[in-house]
Amino acid sequence: MHKKLFIPGPVDVREDVLLKMATPQIGHRSKAASALQKGISEKLQKVFYTNNTIILSTSSGSGLMEAAIRSCTRKRAAVFSVGAFGDRWYKMAKSNGVPADKFSSVAGQPTTVAMVDEALATGKYDVITVTHNETSAGIMNPVAEIGELLKSKYPEVLFLVDTVSSMGGTKIEVDAWGIDVCITSTQKCLGLPAGMAICSVTERAIIWILLNSEMKLSYDDISSILGKERSTIRAIEAAKQVENRGLYFDLVELYDYVHKKDHQYPSTPSLSHMYAMDYQLDRILAEGLENRFARHIEMANYVRDWARSNFALFVEDEKYLSNTLTTIKNTKEISVSDLNKKLAERGFEISNGYGDLKDVTFRISHMADYTLDEVKELITIINEILGL
Ligand SMILES: Cc1ncc(COP(=O)(O)O)c(C=O)c1O
Repeated sequence: MHKKLFIPGPVDVREDVLLKMATPQIGHRSKAASALQKGISEKLQKVFYTNNTIILSTSSGSGLMEAAIRSCTRKRAAVFSVGAFGDRWYKMAKSNGVPADKFSSVAGQPTTVAMVDEALATGKYDVITVTHNETSAGIMNPVAEIGELLKSKYPEVLFLVDTVSSMGGTKIEVDAWGIDVCITSTQKCLGLPAGMAICSVTERAIIWILLNSEMKLSYDDISSILGKERSTIRAIEAAKQVENRGLYFDLVELYDYVHKKDHQYPSTPSLSHMYAMDYQLDRILAEGLENRFARHIEMANYVRDWARSNFALFVEDEKYLSNTLTTIKNTKEISVSDLNKKLAERGFEISNGYGDLKDVTFRISHMADYTLDEVKELITIINEILGL
C-alpha cells in the first residue's frame, strides 16, 4: 500500500508531477534542452528571490554542498552546525582536504549572530557555512541576521547556506540576505522526486573561484565573462589558490556552461526531473509564493499546537522553530517504530528522530504540497492510535 510520507523528505509527489517524468527524452545539446533549462532557471530565480545564476545538478543536495565548500574555500571555512547536516558539511570539508573548523551549538539551540561574529573576528576564515533549516532538530537559523552581520562587518567572507529542507516552503531572500551559494534538493519543499539539486551562485563567489583557479584568469578576462565593470571585482592578491575543485562538482565549470552554452550542463542531466521541475514550478508560482509560505505556517502551527499539548517541542526558543517540519520531544516515551507500524496500516508514515535524537524525538514534516486537511487527518489517526 502507498503510504503518505510525512517524513522530512522524500515527500509525496502529486501524480500529475510524477507523470511529467515520463516525457520522452530529448538530446541534452538541443535547443529544446536549452529552452527547458532556461525556463527552469527563470522560475527558480523567483522561488529563490535572486538574480543570481541558477545551477542544476544531477545529484542530491549533498553534491552541491560538497561542490560549494570545496570550490569556494581559499583559506579556511567556518562551519556552523546545529545538528547532523551541519556536521555533514564539516565532514565534507575534511574529506576533501579543505581547511575548516566546526562551531557547534548546544542541542536544540540555533547558530547565533554572536557566534558567527566571534569566529570571524579572528580573521581566520573566508567562507562560512550555515544550515538554514536543520532537519534533525527542526531549527530554522537566523540566516537573514547572519547575512546582515556579513554585509556590515565581513563583506569579504563568502556565505554558503544549506536550504535543502526549506527552500520553497518558507521565504528565503537570497539576494537581500547576501547568500553567495544557496543549495537545495528536489525531494523536500519543492515537492519533486529525489535525484536533483539546485543552487544559486553569486558572481562574487564565482569571481573568487576564478581568481583562485588554475585557469589564471585576469580581472579583465573575468570582467568579460561576467559582463561586469572592473570595479566590482575584488583584489586578486587576497585570493589564494584552490588547488583542485574536482570535476563533476566544479562550480566554475557548471557556471561557465550555463553562461556560455545557453543553460546546458557539462554532463548529461536528468532531463526527466527537469520536465517534472518545469511543470511543478509553474504549479508553485500559480499557487503564489506568499500563499505557499502561509500554507506551510498554517500546517506548522497545527502540528506545534498538538505537540505542545501532548508532548513538547524540541526547540525551546520558539523564534527558531522550523516552518517545514516539527521535531517533537518524546516525553511520553512512546515506541516510534510501533506507532509507525500502526500508521503504515492506515497508509501514513512519520519519522523517527535523526542520529542521536532517535527515539528521544520524532518528526512530522509539513512541507511541499500537503494541505492543512491532510495534516489534520494524520494527527487524528495518531491520536486514535495513541489514545490521546
Ligand atoms: C538540512 C539538510 N541538508 C542536507 C541534506 C542532504 O541532502 P540530500 O539528501 O539531498 O543529499 C538533507 C537531507 O535530508 C537535509 O535535510
